[in-house]
Amino acid sequence: MPEVILSAQDLVKHYPIRSGVLRRVAGQVKAVDGVSFDLHKGETLGIVGESGCGKSTLGRLLMRLEEPTSGKVIFGGEDWSGASGRKLRQMRRNIQIVFQDPYTSLNPRMTVGDIVGEPLEIHSDVVPKGGRRKRVQELLDLVGLNPEHINRYPHQFSGGQRQRIGIARGIALNPSVLVCDEPVSALDVSVQAQVVNLMEKLQDELGLAYVFIAHDLSVVRHISDRVGVMYLGRMAELGEEDEVYSRPTHPYTQALLSAVPVPDPTLRGKRDQIVLQGDVPSPANPPSGCRFHTRCWKAQEVCTIDEPELEMRPDGVGAHLSRCHFAEPRLILETVDVSDVEPDTRFAGTEVQDMSDLGSGLGAAGGGEDLGSSAADAGVERSSALHPDTDQAPQDTTRLVDEQPGDDRPTR
Ligand SMILES: Nc1ncnc2c1ncn2[C@@H]1O[C@H](COP(=O)(O)OP(=O)(O)OP(=O)(O)O)[C@@H](O)[C@H]1O
Ligand code: SF4
Ligand SMILES: [Mg+2]
Repeated sequence: MPEVILSAQDLVKHYPIRSGVLRRVAGQVKAVDGVSFDLHKGETLGIVGESGCGKSTLGRLLMRLEEPTSGKVIFGGEDWSGASGRKLRQMRRNIQIVFQDPYTSLNPRMTVGDIVGEPLEIHSDVVPKGGRRKRVQELLDLVGLNPEHINRYPHQFSGGQRQRIGIARGIALNPSVLVCDEPVSALDVSVQAQVVNLMEKLQDELGLAYVFIAHDLSVVRHISDRVGVMYLGRMAELGEEDEVYSRPTHPYTQALLSAVPVPDPTLRGKRDQIVLQGDVPSPANPPSGCRFHTRCWKAQEVCTIDEPELEMRPDGVGAHLSRCHFAEPRLILETVDVSDVEPDTRFAGTEVQDMSDLGSGLGAAGGGEDLGSSAADAGVERSSALHPDTDQAPQDTTRLVDEQPGDDRPTR
């Protein structure tokens, strides 16, 4: 296994809840409540979980955009938790972030050249002043954009292209780790595949390690080497992608996986579907014992009192980290192992082999055109909506690749 490059050690982030005229602290939102993991050089760790479970907070803690309440972030064997000033800047050079929304995460008043080049201005020793424009153009080329568009503004690009700008900015300083917080969630399903494939290509070329935060389990499965499942600020299950998806042992993971759309229509009725009862409890007042016990069909008295540790369970082959007293593997599909759903056909035929093939540099031409009906099923949530710009039906939406070569129409 490659060396560990980044470690989260018992990371905690509690936000105070203030009330009254004096703004006294009336409680704490336990957004992240003791999360630990190692990230290895060049690997992708996917982080999934329901909305509000603390994924983004965890990402911000890793980047030190937020100060942890307690716990440590170890990078390259060094504890960066208390770092500030020059030392913090040094750390930020190595850990960069890509945000979810390509529409709001880029400054509309800055040109693409300024946006991508800004980190080079801040870390002025990385590239000498005279060479920055050339470096920015190289970066644009690397992410499949036309280097000649360096003076354009974000509104002159499509969503997928903007996310490429965000990625170019993220890799400008040659970081070792990229924290990606829902990097493709805001994109059309076919463009998602192109951006994910671009990220995989960059990972191979640059040896990047990704912390890939998302709620789309199919996308996470496609890109991740290992996957962590979060519930109410804690890691519920953590293991190799195949272990977590094919032999999930935590009831929460099993319920999440049972809700993933099944591409093969003949298997849909045979799926072991688990419908969770009740809402997610408040992170300000998490349940005693196992945090999942209020929604767990397997809960017993011990679960309400004793919080299970995140341990290797059960004994034997396929054991991986799970926070459940009664962890046991469960096939979500009775007749077919969940792993048989691989590969996610959304990603078929969208491989970007050579960035020079991208014509004017505006994305992977034709990517997503081979999407079959199963792919449409896999992305059923998003593809069922009409395309906002064209009012085309979903089937056509997969063909509306908004990154055709030479396509430099403004989208807004
Ligand atoms: N700055 C803040 N102040 C107070 N509470 C916060 C703050 N940021 C996040 N929270 C709370 O922490 C919890 C975790 O939020 P977070 O944004 O990390 O969740 P998430 O898993 O990323 O959700 P989503 O999938 O919707 O993006 C939520 O209850 C949220 O309301
Ligand atoms: S510890 Fe108990 S309540 Fe928690 S997930 Fe396991 S069975 Fe369910
Ligand atoms: Mg989030």
